[in-house]
Amino acid sequence: MPVSSRRRFLHKAGLFSATALLSSLARPAWSRNLESALDQAAGISPEDLAGDEDFWYYIQQSFTVSPSLINLNNGGVSPAPKTVQDAMKRYYDLCNEAPSYYMWRVLDQGREPLRRNLAKLAGCSPEEIAMNRNSSEGLETVIFGLPLKAGDEVVAAKQDYPNMINAYKQREQREGIKMVWISLELPSEDENYLVSQYVNAFTPKTKVVHITHVINWNGQILPVKKIAAEAHKRGIEVVVDGAHSFAHFDFKIPDLDADYFAASLHKWLYAPIGTGLLYVRKEKIKTLYPLFAVDNPLKDDIRKFEALGTRPFYIEQAIGKAIEFHEMIGSERKEKRLHYLKNYWMEKVKGLPKVKLNTSLRPEWGCAIGNLGIEGTKPGELDTFLLDKFKVHTVAITWENIVGVRITPNVYTTTKQLDVLVEGIRAILNTK
Ligand SMILES: Cc1ncc(COP(=O)(O)O)c(C=O)c1O
Repeated sequence: MPVSSRRRFLHKAGLFSATALLSSLARPAWSRNLESALDQAAGISPEDLAGDEDFWYYIQQSFTVSPSLINLNNGGVSPAPKTVQDAMKRYYDLCNEAPSYYMWRVLDQGREPLRRNLAKLAGCSPEEIAMNRNSSEGLETVIFGLPLKAGDEVVAAKQDYPNMINAYKQREQREGIKMVWISLELPSEDENYLVSQYVNAFTPKTKVVHITHVINWNGQILPVKKIAAEAHKRGIEVVVDGAHSFAHFDFKIPDLDADYFAASLHKWLYAPIGTGLLYVRKEKIKTLYPLFAVDNPLKDDIRKFEALGTRPFYIEQAIGKAIEFHEMIGSERKEKRLHYLKNYWMEKVKGLPKVKLNTSLRPEWGCAIGNLGIEGTKPGELDTFLLDKFKVHTVAITWENIVGVRITPNVYTTTKQLDVLVEGIRAILNTK
């Protein structure tokens, strides 16, 4: 029985003992309030809960975010909830009592349970999940580990993430693989257009297609499964950059039909900064070389991707608390709230003169991340104006054909804060 139902049952049965009452009072107010907010939310649909400011206010209280800076650059990296911060600090203190003992003999005993918990969340086998430090590490492991030779072609988009673009270019420069770059007109709500951009670039020499699940510049969601199906029909392997999708909206990694998938857990899972995962489809593990060498690099063991040397195990182990926090909110509720927040501000500025929305409002094509352009205003100018005059932190984007300011709320963002953003956008429009 979940804690909330158990407590309701105890209340009803009149069995809520003095000891239980005392232990509940010993907990901080934010935690007690959150529990009762979760209790009350139990019968409400995720759609209805998405606009329930009272409920989300208590979620906000689980974080330590600044009340004087409105952080709308959660697309960069997310803060962690208090429970995650506390666990990380506790584990760090423990490590400092005797690092080699507590790190390797105590904390590292949590590695396999963590792998199982991450796999459950990802919907795959624990034997397909490696823990690492971020998406760059996961994806570069794949990009440099794939057995490609001179002349083999890789299809990728100019709107992919620079670290990955650079990694492929390095292989091109050193080994003579051939990159085929497509350029996407975004935002798009046209599945046929998006899929055909990739398919039209495939040739008999194409060995790999690299797909960014959520384009970081404007939040565009790509139809990965459809592109993957076309690729697999032609024997092409599928690498998916899931930096921004994992734990952002509700899906399981195998739904995508990717061969390789990597994510940063410090983005939407709210794990400590410097945490990531790499998924490799079981039958692909043995042919993918690890980036950090092991005794037998072609063994069929996902753990071969974790030979990363001495590192902060206290950070890695705190991922477990982030999974608990994510599950406490629930994937569907989180997705609906994030989408609600993005549309909340976008609907208010849509139609204002000079405003150009560079992100779809439809849930199939975008979730929390939105990009706003203002005709005649450089993104840097808008970013600085919002920060200087309204203490709203965003990020200016000028990348290929995407120009605007990226605005990314989070579960702790309130609609009141988004009203300040909208006031700021109206204010700069009035100066024009
Ligand atoms: C689409 C995408 N891929 C990869 C990365 C790299 O993530 P990290 O810096 O956590 O390795 C990012 C970071 O923002 C991203 O947006």
